[in-house]
Amino acid sequence: MTKPLADRRVLLIIGGGIAAYKSLDLIRRLRERGASVRPLLTQGAQEFVTPLAAAALAGRPAHTDLFDRADEAEIGHIRLAREADAVVVAPATANLMARMATGHAPDLAATVLLATTLPILIAPAMNVAMWAHPATRRNLATLVADGVRVVGPNAGPMAEAETGAGRMAEPVEIAEALAAMLIEAEEPAGFGVLSGRAVKTTGPLAGRRVLVTSGPTHEPIDPVRFIANRSSGRQGHAIAAAAAEAGAAVTLVSGPVAIPDPPGVTVVRVETAREMLAAVEAALPATIAVFAAAVGDWRPENAQGAKIKKDGAAPPPLALVENPDILATIAGLACGRPDLVVGFAAETDTVLDHAREKIARKGCDLIVANDVSAAGGVMGGTANTVHLIARDGTVETWPRLDKDEVGRRLVARFAALLVR
Ligand code: C5P
Repeated sequence: MTKPLADRRVLLIIGGGIAAYKSLDLIRRLRERGASVRPLLTQGAQEFVTPLAAAALAGRPAHTDLFDRADEAEIGHIRLAREADAVVVAPATANLMARMATGHAPDLAATVLLATTLPILIAPAMNVAMWAHPATRRNLATLVADGVRVVGPNAGPMAEAETGAGRMAEPVEIAEALAAMLIEAEEPAGFGVLSGRAVKTTGPLAGRRVLVTSGPTHEPIDPVRFIANRSSGRQGHAIAAAAAEAGAAVTLVSGPVAIPDPPGVTVVRVETAREMLAAVEAALPATIAVFAAAVGDWRPENAQGAKIKKDGAAPPPLALVENPDILATIAGLACGRPDLVVGFAAETDTVLDHAREKIARKGCDLIVANDVSAAGGVMGGTANTVHLIARDGTVETWPRLDKDEVGRRLVARFAALLVR
């Protein structure tokens, strides 16, 4: 099989953000996969990394300035915009995304982006608040509508000691998204491309955006210890895979799991409940949101920065505080609430009573309830017996099924509910 990046020519536009240092590594990752890279640094990027470093890693000159006479004589901005197989913008800062969305072209990077007809992949990276700002949300929606593909951002600790969505995707993830984009550009009809992944343009959820949470959360006690649960992520991942198979553009926000990413799905990896909430908010808007994650109800009030020592005295007390309820937060949105919000109820006793109470308390449209008592082997297992509870209290009980089959049947049901 030929490698998707072998002999591909990549124009890499490096924006002005702290994540620019990772773009140097991206050059190496692309080259080791056989691609040639032509770097182009914005003025801001040059505050973080030097054109010399980019050129050394790329093995060819780095482009920097629109009015560089030597550059224009040798290779003008129109040629730059054409002589490649794809354009990657990493990091795509809020500023660069705004320029792309509005067609404002005051510098070489923006001019090339305006002039190019090549497939474009952007790897956004910015402060949490900037990523969440309505202006950035609007610009992102415009870019996606224009056919620009997006990879990341991931949630996690940021340079400013904040936590949330905004970290640039890792170089390997960007390389993979680029490879997928190049393969998809050659896919037969019936497939389109959105957010750096294959999207079927047929199927009951074609053109819909679906958000799924999956897996456990890890709530740190100190750098080496955490509170977690036994969720494997199998059910949530199966739902995400089935939604993609049904034609949806799927974002899967997953806690730490040991199972592979579902095919054709954008995966945002998080650890804590608070990171999961930020990633979910960043992934909106969506038509359907399915909250299958086993979110930790509590987290240690004061996670310690250094490992807590066992010094022979009494064990340290562990004060807990409640985590944000992600499902209730999204179900309660006055503006931008998904059309269908689905919660899960994992109970060990009186499953249906708890589920009925939960649907009212959380404000969701549907609850998928299951018995996770040890006898059933659901938590971490591959099969599941679920009950569907609607807002009017009606209950439908399904037979014990493989989690993949539960995922497919749930997705078929969600699609049917949307058209009702
Ligand atoms: O309250 P309980 O944890 O039983 O609710 C389960 C449902 O709520 C699941 O859909 C789960 O993903 C969601 N949940 C959440 N955020 C929390 C706790 C639960 O989204 N902090």
